[in-house]
Amino acid sequence: MKIIVVGTGFVGLTHAAVLSESGHKVYAYDIDKEKIDAYNSGKREKIERYVHEPGLASIIQDTLNRYLFFVDNIEDIIEGTQAIFLCLPTPPNLDGSTDLSYYKNAVHLLGERLAKRTDQERVVLINKSTVPVGTARMLQGILDEHAVPNFGVASNPEFLPEGDAVERSRKPDRIVVGADTEKDFAILRRTYSRFVNHVRISYIETTPETAESIKYVANTLLLTYISFWNGVGARLGETLDNLDMEDLKRGVTSDSRISKWGSYVSNGAGGSCFGKDIQSLIYQLRSRHQPTELLEQVYHINEFQKKYLVDRAINEAGFNFNNKTVALLGLAFKKQTNDMRDSSSLVVVERLLSHGVKSIRAYDPLATEEAKHYFDPNKNSLFDKISYHDSVHSALEGSDALFITTDWEEFRALADTIQDSVKPPYLVIDGRRMIVNYRSLIVAGYTYLAVGSKL
Ligand SMILES: NC(=O)c1ccc[n+]([C@@H]2O[C@H](COP(=O)([O-])OP(=O)(O)OC[C@H]3O[C@@H](n4cnc5c(N)ncnc54)[C@H](O)[C@@H]3O)[C@@H](O)[C@H]2O)c1
Repeated sequence: MKIIVVGTGFVGLTHAAVLSESGHKVYAYDIDKEKIDAYNSGKREKIERYVHEPGLASIIQDTLNRYLFFVDNIEDIIEGTQAIFLCLPTPPNLDGSTDLSYYKNAVHLLGERLAKRTDQERVVLINKSTVPVGTARMLQGILDEHAVPNFGVASNPEFLPEGDAVERSRKPDRIVVGADTEKDFAILRRTYSRFVNHVRISYIETTPETAESIKYVANTLLLTYISFWNGVGARLGETLDNLDMEDLKRGVTSDSRISKWGSYVSNGAGGSCFGKDIQSLIYQLRSRHQPTELLEQVYHINEFQKKYLVDRAINEAGFNFNNKTVALLGLAFKKQTNDMRDSSSLVVVERLLSHGVKSIRAYDPLATEEAKHYFDPNKNSLFDKISYHDSVHSALEGSDALFITTDWEEFRALADTIQDSVKPPYLVIDGRRMIVNYRSLIVAGYTYLAVGSKL
């Protein structure tokens, strides 16, 4: 099949690459010419500057210019295309509603061009982005405005988790396709032929509105699990004597009805999706005059978790951040990615700076370049206080406290590195309960403050 993927960010690039492995001819289009040039170079470091996902650069190198083509101009590739996937940004507006301007711009351009094509074969435009319920209908309206002949619209939401995007795109739990006609379902079945009738993958065909809703319900339910543990488990662990958080988790999740995923306490879930999707669902339900208390609490608990550990350090550990040097371990919103969108580290940096720290010594195995864009001293001179280091050891040098914000596996064995690098009195703030051997730190005189535990 000839397929176009519009938008080559995390979702679009992964989707295009994995589709090209199936032997489709995939044209990945983006308005960002620098990105397209980087992907076309076939060079790992250039590709990973934009999307760092295990295995992704290798697929691109294997299929580039044979099954996978990167273009910054849509004009010449429309003819003969059967499926066009829209993988565009859908950021939140200030009121929580979804900004669909990227969508509309892209769809108008496609509409103009599709109206002029000569082949007149059936083409389906498919929403892969997370879009409010009703967006497939909107798409249909725009294409009708342009008098596009012989087209269908579909919703095929993406569920990939960052950090494991390739593996989970190759072996998804489910494929959800919402469309109106058998012709369009048939095109999607061909696109995903290796997943249809698969013993382990649920291939679900439904209405566009149901498909759009599935994505919002699934994402907000995942955030609800996380916020449940943060709102209940962390609160118990931080106020009860003698509560063992690991035993609590094991005891609760040994029940097969209870999800193991999300059953942990943390400094909040970041990433580009959870926050914006729950805000969008709240907005969509409010627009239908429905109560939204549950979702609002889930959202607020998650935001609270990102910021409250700095307050605990001050109030419980009696630590004064003024003029202190803090090592910040982790910048990405989770391990295995360089993505910092909505990362807890953004909130922590803001809080540390507002409490007058002298300097922040940051370390992240992947996200340093990304961080330099977020913490650009030209935007805020306080960001001058941040320096970047290429190891934990180097970040710890001369620090008075450390803050773990990301769950990088290498942080599990930190107890020894800390004792080699810095001496008590010293405050360790563990936002992910990463340090396995934390008791040795306490015995050696360090102050250890972890999410979900009393000091
Ligand atoms: N990131 C995730 O883990 C994830 C998972 C599931 C779903 N989603 C959803 O997928 C969508 C895309 O997310 P993302 O993380 O890939 O976003 P992204 O910002 O990483 O990528 C979007 C890309 O679209 C390009 N673009 C913008 N306007 C364009 C236009 N008019 N024409 C062509 N290209 C254009 C941008 O240059 C960018 O490369 C969002 O709706 C998101 O909620 C994301």
